[in-house]
Amino acid sequence: MKFGYVLLIVLTSVVLASCTQTNRPSDSNQVENITPTTTIAGDIQPDRTEIVASEVFDQEGSISPTNTSSPSSQPTLIPCSGVTTSRNQEGPFYKDGSPERDSLIEAGMPGTPILIIGRVFDQDCNPLSGVKVDFWLANVEGEYDNDGYTLRGHQFTDQNGFYSVESIEPTPYTGRPSHIHVKLFAPNGIELLTTQMYFPGSESSADVLNSPDLLTTYLEPDANGRQQVLFNFILSD
Ligand SMILES: [Fe+2]
Repeated sequence: MKFGYVLLIVLTSVVLASCTQTNRPSDSNQVENITPTTTIAGDIQPDRTEIVASEVFDQEGSISPTNTSSPSSQPTLIPCSGVTTSRNQEGPFYKDGSPERDSLIEAGMPGTPILIIGRVFDQDCNPLSGVKVDFWLANVEGEYDNDGYTLRGHQFTDQNGFYSVESIEPTPYTGRPSHIHVKLFAPNGIELLTTQMYFPGSESSADVLNSPDLLTTYLEPDANGRQQVLFNFILSD
């Protein structure tokens, strides 16, 4: 009788364990972190797999916020390569006086939105705050706005050297690969760097072959589905 009671407990535990496995949201990385706990007849323990699962997944079964690490939400996770950013030609269309704004996109503007993020460091990888990062680029027709400030704007880096700006993905135009022009200024207004950031498809261009550090890195889309693009600036002394 006693043996039958123990056998019943063991069988019940096995059935419950298999049910919890099949109902759990599938995410191989998370499942690998779950350590099943052996249940011993006569000394029944709480199923640790259920406790871990409730910590990892929310009620809808999606990964909880503690398991998502968007670089734009945790900018200090963006590392410094230590490779000084190359200078690149200014071109004829720089215009002083751009507005400070976090998006260069205006209502009705054609193009694919992207979110450019990154940090500004000195060559020892110390983050630089208060740096003015001034962007300008052509529209999808390959034309620069030399009368107004369409697709022109600047940001100031925060205490972690972080900046972010929304733009349209640049389009290649005659003789030029996809690129965005950038100038960086110290808080006292002294110009620190003039360069361009290049985008996928520009790998064979002379600019990128000569300065591969100027090629942007595409990251995971953000929570809104926008493509995130990483570009750090490492300034020489
Ligand atoms: Fe250009």
